[in-house]
Amino acid sequence: MSGGGAGVSGGATRGQSVSVRDFVERKGREKLVVVTAYDALFGRLVDESGVDAVLVGDSLASVVAGLETTLPVTLDQMIFHAQAARRGVSRSLFIVDMPFLTYQVSPEQALTNCGRVFQETGAQAVKLEGASASVLESISAVTGAGIPVMGHLGFTPQSVHALGGYRVQGREKGAAARLTDSARRLEDAGVFSMVLELIPADVAGEVTSAVRVPTIGIGAGPRCDGQVLVLHDLLGLNEHFTPKFLKRYASMAQDVRDAIGRFRDDVRQCRYPDDDHSF
Ligand code: KIV
Repeated sequence: MSGGGAGVSGGATRGQSVSVRDFVERKGREKLVVVTAYDALFGRLVDESGVDAVLVGDSLASVVAGLETTLPVTLDQMIFHAQAARRGVSRSLFIVDMPFLTYQVSPEQALTNCGRVFQETGAQAVKLEGASASVLESISAVTGAGIPVMGHLGFTPQSVHALGGYRVQGREKGAAARLTDSARRLEDAGVFSMVLELIPADVAGEVTSAVRVPTIGIGAGPRCDGQVLVLHDLLGLNEHFTPKFLKRYASMAQDVRDAIGRFRDDVRQCRYPDDDHSF
């Protein structure tokens, strides 16, 4: 499958090695790995690391823009970041989050907005949160037009206020059955995969067994078909975010402070620039 869409300038010819179909076929065979990116530099590094998919998440609200929630992120902002990340990604499946209120109002508006993201960023798929009747209608319209959709259940950050804050979902009696029902509805509406966020591991396991498409967990235990983490969290850049599920694979916030501190000291003590770094 070849990717790269209109409006993506500066990208090389793209020979995609992970298609939506490849992604779906990995269910039950190999765990899927998804990591977020919001710009070209990190897009390239994540892509070169051999993940299956890069997600331009609206989590950029907190990690890039310093916002409390994802609600203020606009479609134009997502498109700007997706275009940037796209320039770095040539191998992984490239998925872009649809921001709040760009797909809930009507199926027509969802199709227009997802179509913009598809055409202007070179996305191979979009991600929509929730499984309300209106979202399911939107997903059907979007997938019906040939745009692959990833769903998102459990804690859905765009509904943070309705859900009563950042908290584990699906703990109450009957929750597993309700989430499984929502997952099946998403599947019937045509999603090729779905994120399961902040739900108990056994519930996520039940949902995963109930659907044919891969589930990608974040705070949803080991029985999901794959895992996603926010890049800045796994790199240890976002030190103030400390949920139980997060495993840090680097301590980059400290590395950044150390490096800049060494530069500061070199400048103040006239060690930089030296002859080796001067013309
Ligand atoms: O916005 C995002 O980064 C996400 C992932 C955490 C799944 O939705």
